[in-house]
Order: sequence, then structure tokens, then C-alpha cells
Amino acid sequence: MEIKKSEFTISAPRVSMCPKDNKAEYAFIGRSNVGKSSLINMLCNHKGLAKTSATPGKTLLINHFIINNEWYLVDLPGYGFAKRSKTVQKQLEQMISSYILQRPQLANVFVLIDVRHEQQKIDREFVDWLGESNVPFCIVFTKADKLGPVKARMNAEKWMHALEDRWEALPPYFITSSEKKTGRDEVLDYIDEINKS
Ligand code: GTP
Ligand code: MG
Repeated sequence: MEIKKSEFTISAPRVSMCPKDNKAEYAFIGRSNVGKSSLINMLCNHKGLAKTSATPGKTLLINHFIINNEWYLVDLPGYGFAKRSKTVQKQLEQMISSYILQRPQLANVFVLIDVRHEQQKIDREFVDWLGESNVPFCIVFTKADKLGPVKARMNAEKWMHALEDRWEALPPYFITSSEKKTGRDEVLDYIDEINKS
């Protein structure tokens, strides 16, 4: 699948203010600074579409981008950013969970994991919560360019393996680099398959 057109639609502070049409949505979520906004830009071949920053905590709203006038990519704020106040963190988590649970248009959640790191409790808990809530999701490992292909694959496999104690069927996973455009076709083909189903 090719992305011919990608445009910013709206930044919503809560679910009730998200677009009212019934187009399918693909949301990107993960710890602050993991590379959600960068991945959206890479998939769209559109630098600056989603705002990125070297400082964690850049994305604070539910951001919709309309793709080929047909479906949405959704950039969400990161979870687990220690430097935020507890109140702000709670509000963001509330916003993220209500978006995920109250959005029938949500076709898939992409959970982003920095491929350099061992499985962290917060990511594990988030993935378990998605599974328990029956939300369709897959894992996207990011920043593979920082490790190289062999080590990135090893880390990703180890991370997935660590889910096996609790989940029999593991979700699909992708290894990506927004810097090198690794994994672009695979992620877009996955979206295309869901769109067609
Ligand atoms: P928040 O919105 O703050 O939650 O962050 P985010 O997950 O949207 O991360 P963002 O895309 O803003 O990227 C964070 C930092 O990581 C930026 O400095 C990016 O340039 C860098 N980055 C993102 N993806 C990659 C990648 O694939 N490779 C490398 N080397 N750096 C990356
Ligand atoms: Mg962001």
C-alpha cells in the first residue's frame, strides 16, 4: 500500500472531540520518547506531520491524521514519563485508556517498544491490559538503527518470548527504524490487510 496523502485533522483533548466520521483508526502508543510521532512521519514520508522532540512528553493530545482521505493514523501521548506531575500523568492515562476503550473505529493499536531495552514493567502491564480488554494490537520495536539488524532481532525475540508465560498466542511484531525507514512496508501492509478485512 502507498500513502499518497497525509494531513493533520485535529488534536483532541478527549474522546468526545475526536472526528465523528466512522473511518478506521490506527493508534500509536508507548513510553514517552519511544518514537511514536517519528514513526508516523516515517510511514507517511512526511517530515513534520506529527511533532517530534528529543525531550520526552512532546505529544499531549489525541492527534488524528487522515491518510488517503480514507483512514486515520492517531498519535497519542506517551505513558510513564516520570517528570510529569502525578495529576497530569493521571489525566493523560485516563485520556489514553478512554480513547482505547471507547472508540469503535479503533482498528488496531501499535505498542511501541525501544528495541534497546529489556522488557519494562510498565510496557508489560500495558500489553497485558490490552490483551485482557480484547483490544487488537501488535508490537513495534523502534530505533533498530541504534543496534544494527542482528542485535535488534535478538532483543525483539527475547522481548516477545518474555510474554509467553502469560499469553499463549503472541501478537504480531515489527522491527523498525524511523531513521532508516526500516519496517515501513511491513507495517503499511499490515494496516492494508486490516483495512481490506
Ligand atoms: P512523546 O510524544 O514525547 O511521547 O515522544 P514520541 O514517542 O512521539 O517520540 P518522538 O517521535 O518525538 O522521538 C523522540 C526522539 O527519538 C527524537 O529525538 C527522535 O529523533 C528520536 N527517534 C525516533 N525514532 C528514531 C529512530 O528510529 N532512530 C533514531 N536513531 N532515533 C529516533
Ligand atoms: Mg510524540
